[in-house]
Amino acid sequence: MPNRSHRNAGHRTMNRLRRDGIAHASERASDAPTRTVHCVLPGIDCVDLLGRLPDASVQLIVCDPPYNLKLAGWDDRSDYVEWAAAWLGECVRVLRPTGSLALFGGLQFQDEAVGGDLHTLLHHVRTTLPLRLVNLIVWHYRNGMSAHRFFANRHEEIAWFAKTRRYTFNLDAVRERYAPDVERAYLRDKRLNPDSVRLGKNPTNVWEIPRLNANAKERVGHPTQKPIALVTRLVRALSNPGDVVLDFFAGSGVTAVTAMREGRHSISGDLDRALTDRLARLREHAAGDDAIAAPVDVTAAIDDVPLD
Ligand SMILES: C[S@@+](CC[C@H](N)C(=O)[O-])C[C@H]1O[C@@H](n2cnc3c(N)ncnc32)[C@H](O)[C@@H]1O
Repeated sequence: MPNRSHRNAGHRTMNRLRRDGIAHASERASDAPTRTVHCVLPGIDCVDLLGRLPDASVQLIVCDPPYNLKLAGWDDRSDYVEWAAAWLGECVRVLRPTGSLALFGGLQFQDEAVGGDLHTLLHHVRTTLPLRLVNLIVWHYRNGMSAHRFFANRHEEIAWFAKTRRYTFNLDAVRERYAPDVERAYLRDKRLNPDSVRLGKNPTNVWEIPRLNANAKERVGHPTQKPIALVTRLVRALSNPGDVVLDFFAGSGVTAVTAMREGRHSISGDLDRALTDRLARLREHAAGDDAIAAPVDVTAAIDDVPLD
């Protein structure tokens, strides 16, 4: 297959900007703040929370919605698509031009009668909203349930949508180091740039990160809690230090705790009031490995967060 990436308008623009010594918006990094602010709103409906945010004020939305799987009371809706349309439309409004929406889900579950899986939401976004699908990321894990009537599922998806072509993407922040023997061999290869070799490789759109099993130390009692490692890769790649990250289905508070570790500000809300307690326990877990470097302010006032 010939490599036709040079015909891609996006790549050509990036190359031209590099030649001219100008950084593309996706490569611009800001300074890490000395203190980060985290607004936590337990007991709030997602649409109410979104309605309190100004236009174009948020860099990254980490969004892990209920999918009508009847896992809990909040996961059983007869108006699923209309309900999702309300918060998806608001996401477009509150995202900055460089911003992204990371929408978690799976394609393998569906209640035929009312809809309610990632497929339903992808269709809605594609047909009605001005968001650009940049990648469909496959989150692959080796641990999961067994199955006898079909192949046991070992992946979920994350649809990465950008608001505009000027989206932030920090590839260097999430590159994977080569194995030591491979890196040594590549460094001996005169055709390769040693700086690029040392930076590592693009992690691709298939991410192998273990799911949290029932006994994981990170678990704080939420039935669908996502690993910090998974959210960390999204936050590093799709936002810069000092940016604001939003999660209105916050569950365990994993996005807020990741933002604390990564020097981003955050806003988290959930209908479930247990958010406060779970987030505090997850933060304690993360503090145990000294990962939260900068001082952190936790507040209940959106106005305290430095929104654009
Ligand atoms: C799939 S879970 C999110 C899990 C989270 N990503 C984590 O890793 O801990 C969905 C969350 O949405 C919340 N939720 C359901 N309906 C909501 C609504 N209308 N507004 C706000 N939160 C809601 C539920 O309480 C639940 O915690």
